Amino acid sequence: MKRPAITDTTLRDAHQSLWATRMRSEDMVPILQHLDKVGYFSLEMWGGATFDVCIRYLNEDPWDRIRIIKKYVKQTPLQMLLRGQNIVGYTNYPDDVVVAFVDKAAECGIDIFRIFDALNDVRNLEVPVRAVKRTGKHVQACVVYTLSPVHTYEHYLETALRLQDMGADSICIKDMAGMISPYAAYELVSLFKEKLDVPIQLHTHYIGGMAIGACLKAVEAGVDVFDACSGPLAFGSSQPPVETLVRALQGTPWDTGLDLHHLFEISNYWEELRRRRGFERGVTRINDMKVFDHQVPGGMITNLVIQLEEQKALHRLNEVLEEIPRVREELGYPPLVTPTSQVVGTQAVLNVLLGERYKMVPQEVKDYVRGYYGRPPAPIKEEIKRLIIGDEEPITCRPADLLECRFEKMKEEIRDLAESDEDYITYALFPQIARKFFEYRKQLRTGEIQTVAETQKEAPPAQEKGKKQQAATPVVKSKTQQASREDGEMNVDDVKEFIRLIHEMDVNELHIETASMKVNIRKGVFEGSPRAFEGTAKIKPATEEIPLRSSGTPEPAPALEPAPAKRAANLVEVVAPMVGTFYRAPAPDAPPFVEVGSKVQKGDTLCIIEAMKLMNEIEAECAGEVVEILVENAEPVEYGQVLFLIAPEK
Ligand code: CO
Repeated sequence: MKRPAITDTTLRDAHQSLWATRMRSEDMVPILQHLDKVGYFSLEMWGGATFDVCIRYLNEDPWDRIRIIKKYVKQTPLQMLLRGQNIVGYTNYPDDVVVAFVDKAAECGIDIFRIFDALNDVRNLEVPVRAVKRTGKHVQACVVYTLSPVHTYEHYLETALRLQDMGADSICIKDMAGMISPYAAYELVSLFKEKLDVPIQLHTHYIGGMAIGACLKAVEAGVDVFDACSGPLAFGSSQPPVETLVRALQGTPWDTGLDLHHLFEISNYWEELRRRRGFERGVTRINDMKVFDHQVPGGMITNLVIQLEEQKALHRLNEVLEEIPRVREELGYPPLVTPTSQVVGTQAVLNVLLGERYKMVPQEVKDYVRGYYGRPPAPIKEEIKRLIIGDEEPITCRPADLLECRFEKMKEEIRDLAESDEDYITYALFPQIARKFFEYRKQLRTGEIQTVAETQKEAPPAQEKGKKQQAATPVVKSKTQQASREDGEMNVDDVKEFIRLIHEMDVNELHIETASMKVNIRKGVFEGSPRAFEGTAKIKPATEEIPLRSSGTPEPAPALEPAPAKRAANLVEVVAPMVGTFYRAPAPDAPPFVEVGSKVQKGDTLCIIEAMKLMNEIEAECAGEVVEILVENAEPVEYGQVLFLIAPEK
């Protein structure tokens, strides 16, 4: 009987699932040599959301993280999660960017590339698999596990066989929502072991609590490797705890041989870090357990809660959870994993909030229906397809075939700030964020900004009650901040400055109190998601206490202000259907923008409301002339706020 090996996911998936990917390299360093001695099959420590979060929120160079870890981990292979043609982003990238990324990651020290495609469309894996093979590193190709009428054992086997043919060195069953039952795991692993020649690994999530059982049954069926993580970062939407699994298998033919005592020394370190940083434990809530029913993974529920909070519609969560399976079915049963989880989840939110299904369809959903993410597992319902893209025919080729190789061109765009080959790749993946990060790095070097570590002796700029404070939080020295410290007054510019600050600092909320007012700025956390943070500031007189949000119990939504009573009897009001940011749209009759005097037809786009990080077009519901625009470009708007007044055609 072969001993199963274990991949430790603490450095990647576990904190992506529980701590919104906020673990820093400096948090990892002290324990790396101990992790290296455990005897793990591999350490999953990079990829997924870590890359994006490093440059977007942590001001850390993700490439440095590989080198740092490699310096301390000398025996255990390092493993990353690669989203196929989406690399570590949320959309297909051109082939030359995929190849450059893989080459550089291998050179920096990645030994095992776990590669998946959200739709199990193997065409999206061809280029990344070939790229990894060329580096001589280990290709672990994934079969994404989900439940639907088309996701049968035959489908998984067929996908796995094709991946093996493509050169995969091992196959991973990737169950991102913790849906695989112990008995399904037994059957699927048995089938794979019988029909495939390469080793089989199981990746699952704890969520509803089946993961421990699933791993044990998979081991009985002969799985070669399974994923687990250290106890303090286990449970909830994360992986099952390694300590429990090691103990459960002790004294059986599948004894892992790992030293439990040593594992607990490691857990003590993580537990201490967790407390110090105020990070949450993995908890299974009733809504998470209902995953068996609605199939929405824990991380995605967190995103939904935040999206709905922004829209002041948290009380409609259950309706959204019921809508998601409907949308998923209509769109051909895509597994709910990045980026298709965003596509399905946001459409479901819009369907519920707008009271009319597919009234508004974000660009990403249109692209999905057009085939730009790959082939859906089942055909998209014909009437839904027509509703979304009309008579347009979806593409049938591999999506990246339509993308021009553009790496060289992108390099030109960032010559001014790039300092290494890695910088060019970072820029090709996330142009705007990368530029901001490079500028920050430059400012840090020239002393324009400092980190908290350097400014610790100074009085803090404001009272911070944020739970997730860091040692190396950047503090921006600004005029407004000093002014507010001196005279105890704050104006709107100061508040804007603090909003900017909270985005740069890794805190959830910032509470600022002066003689004249209290400000509580709260940041939503998109767990492991591309779609970042939204800062909201509430300013109230000092007499009114604004409660800080305690975890899990969102503060009740304030009553909506009535729309201003600015209406003439014959004018039609166009109101914001959601909370978001207002952007002007190109005018149908007289470009560039819809303005006062523009003639519009029913169905013309009047403006765009950016909400939930997606661009949503607001259409005219009648033909007429725009007589007033009540919102400035790029201004935030509330639900129900009047945006336009239109004089309808008689
Ligand atoms: Co996972």
